[in-house]
Amino acid sequence: MDAEPGPSAQGWSMVPDERERTAAPAGHPGAHRDVAARVRGQYRAHPFPPPQRRHSYRNHARFVRQYLEGLGIDPAGRRFGDMACGTGLMLLDYALEFPEAELVGYDLSEASVERANATLAEEGVGNARALVADLLDLGETESFDYVVSWGTIHHLAEPGEGLLALARVLKPGGVLRLGVYGYYGNWERHIQQEIVRTLGQGLDLEDKIRLVREWAAADLRFLAAQTAPPVDLDDDDWVVDEFLHVWERPLRLDEVVSGLARGGLSVLALTDYDDRPIPLDPTAHIRSPTLAQRASQLPFDQQCHLVELLTRPYWLAVLARKQGP
Ligand SMILES: C[S@@+](CC[C@H](N)C(=O)[O-])C[C@H]1O[C@@H](n2cnc3c(N)ncnc32)[C@H](O)[C@@H]1O
Repeated sequence: MDAEPGPSAQGWSMVPDERERTAAPAGHPGAHRDVAARVRGQYRAHPFPPPQRRHSYRNHARFVRQYLEGLGIDPAGRRFGDMACGTGLMLLDYALEFPEAELVGYDLSEASVERANATLAEEGVGNARALVADLLDLGETESFDYVVSWGTIHHLAEPGEGLLALARVLKPGGVLRLGVYGYYGNWERHIQQEIVRTLGQGLDLEDKIRLVREWAAADLRFLAAQTAPPVDLDDDDWVVDEFLHVWERPLRLDEVVSGLARGGLSVLALTDYDDRPIPLDPTAHIRSPTLAQRASQLPFDQQCHLVELLTRPYWLAVLARKQGP
């Protein structure tokens, strides 16, 4: 992560909040342990994703099959890892899409892993399992052909360490699909979280969940804001994940690109949450030929930064590949 003062250095918070008062600051030696303990506690009480999302990752898994085929990678006999699989619904859809591969999911939350294995058993899936583990401490090196990490790296004390951990577990030539909140595209959501924090001071979690519902129903701007997928406000676990999370530290696309490069990965493509391509060539997003020319002279990470600024996706879904054998 860059050391310059900037929006990402402190996360998005606009006023001191409970997260800043109680968590060790990022960079502190105990920060990862403290944040991980709080995140584990949240997902113990509120595992994610909720059961109504079952089979919602099928298109995602199909897209990945096509992408790997396009790279000339035959999934047969390959090892796939889901780094922070939560309740395992993505793992399930991968297992169904790739019966010829072996899949392992890892998550900090025992409650989520238990639910993941129960779901896999219910669906009669034999090629996937979930294990309790911290993705920063997997004890696996260069052992996966494909790794997905969806919606998790921004919940680490130091997201850059998470990027290096993902790079470490990939085999040379392996492919990563990383999904994180967009930095600029989440501005509205972070304002919403700030409204909830400000109004909810002193309330316990159950009352804060009720407050989210009451506020969201009455706020026209909430109804107009787009997220992918839309939040199910009737579901407590979903409300907590989106509005009351104990720790979020979003990272910019250029930080993702340079963080992965540190681990030996090159970013190949960017899509939104639903796999729609977002060209990484900034000239695709600029009408002025003179400015397009200036943009095309920037280094790759700065081109990516510009693409994020110009397109402001709610979700950044990156495809990257580790330098191969
Ligand atoms: C928003 S959920 C995403 C679940 C799943 N990837 C999905 O998108 O459906 C984030 C998950 O990350 C897990 N998590 C957070 N930090 C972790 C860490 N250091 N190691 C392993 N899992 C972690 C949490 O327990 C939680 O289940």
